Amino acid sequence: MGNFVWSGCDVTELANRFGTPLYVMSEDEITSRIRTIKACFDDRYERCSTYFASKSFLTRDMLRILMREGTGLDVVSGGELYLARAMDFPPDMIMFHGNSKTASEIGDGLDYHVGCFVCDSVEEMLLIDRMAGLRSVSANILLRVTPGVEGHTHKYIATAGFGSKFGIPLEMVNDAVSIGMKLGNASLRGFHFHVGSQFMDNSCHIASLEIVLGLISRVYGELGFVTSTLDMGGGFGVAYVDSEQPQPVDSFICPMTELVERFCSDLGIPRPSLVTEPGRFIVGPAGITLYTAGSVKDVPGAGTYVGVDGGYPDNPRTALYGAKYDALVANKYGDGPLKRTTIVGKCCESGDILIRDINLPEIARGDIIAVKCTGAYNYSMSSNYNKNPIPAVVMIKDGQPRLSVRRQSYEDMFSADI
Ligand SMILES: Cc1ncc(COP(=O)(O)O)c(C=O)c1O
Repeated sequence: MGNFVWSGCDVTELANRFGTPLYVMSEDEITSRIRTIKACFDDRYERCSTYFASKSFLTRDMLRILMREGTGLDVVSGGELYLARAMDFPPDMIMFHGNSKTASEIGDGLDYHVGCFVCDSVEEMLLIDRMAGLRSVSANILLRVTPGVEGHTHKYIATAGFGSKFGIPLEMVNDAVSIGMKLGNASLRGFHFHVGSQFMDNSCHIASLEIVLGLISRVYGELGFVTSTLDMGGGFGVAYVDSEQPQPVDSFICPMTELVERFCSDLGIPRPSLVTEPGRFIVGPAGITLYTAGSVKDVPGAGTYVGVDGGYPDNPRTALYGAKYDALVANKYGDGPLKRTTIVGKCCESGDILIRDINLPEIARGDIIAVKCTGAYNYSMSSNYNKNPIPAVVMIKDGQPRLSVRRQSYEDMFSADI
């Protein structure tokens, strides 16, 4: 019937102009999602701020958008910090995460005077303190704690259960705080928790927050430690397929903020500044990936397989987590009749299946397939597996596409190989 138009652009034309596979991001959608979070958090309550989880999608253009919108940045590696620094991202608005930061990464963070380090262990806290002393600088620290709440999400993206590799178990927090209160160069400001990713409702967030508030009151009563900052992580879910119906983001954030206010005023505890650090919510639905169909074959007993020119290297989430996606044929949008089809990637892995059993118009080699909701953890998790170059990223603003990250060439791919 026609061509699919997304964020004001005919995406078949984008595929023809920029090639495939192609990540397409909508700056308008990203901006609107940042503003939605800010409206229900930063602007609604005092001393609340949003830090974008750059692990979900990081490019120079993304940093420009974040700076324009006055949003903070959560980084987890020297590489993420490097780009932020190269773009003069305000250091005081950077939160340095990571459960296994190297000494060199910590050094980079101290040299750039990042606003805060989130420590995953006492050992790391002591290292930061020592390294800050050697540089005659100070550092702010939050301790990442593990609330012990099992997340209702895929086990690889649940991070706050008992025995998690992340954070400090609750029973060890008092000792960690006692040590933190005596540091000479680093200043312990409070706590961080993150329940995991892609949550459909707020129950795990609220349960974790209640536990962490109990902890805040315990260390206040027993050690006299005043929590000045509480980082409540990210994890707000998005709809990858129609059957997923996440609660709106304000129904995560508002009850959490109100719970903190009530708890602190009931117990007479000073209310901490609050931080949230969403990634997927901001960029997930703001991106699609375009592919060109290649080989189409009917396999008796299995159905129709359509191979595309990408797959695992540009989207490992299906193989890693069994992630579900929705797709359409961009140059046959609205066409019928529909046929049960499985869209497979081009890698030598049986698990490289982008979408199993989806109803799509009959596909032929050369058709353009658009997979929806690929803005988060796709470009950022991409790899050169099977020596496939990393696709380009196109950013659309006001219906105008611009090349944001150029396609990796074969030369780029091998440029570090001596
Ligand atoms: C510590 C931390 N904060 C924030 C996030 C962002 O999570 P999401 O993209 O689900 O909002 C993550 C991602 O797993 C994380 O590990």
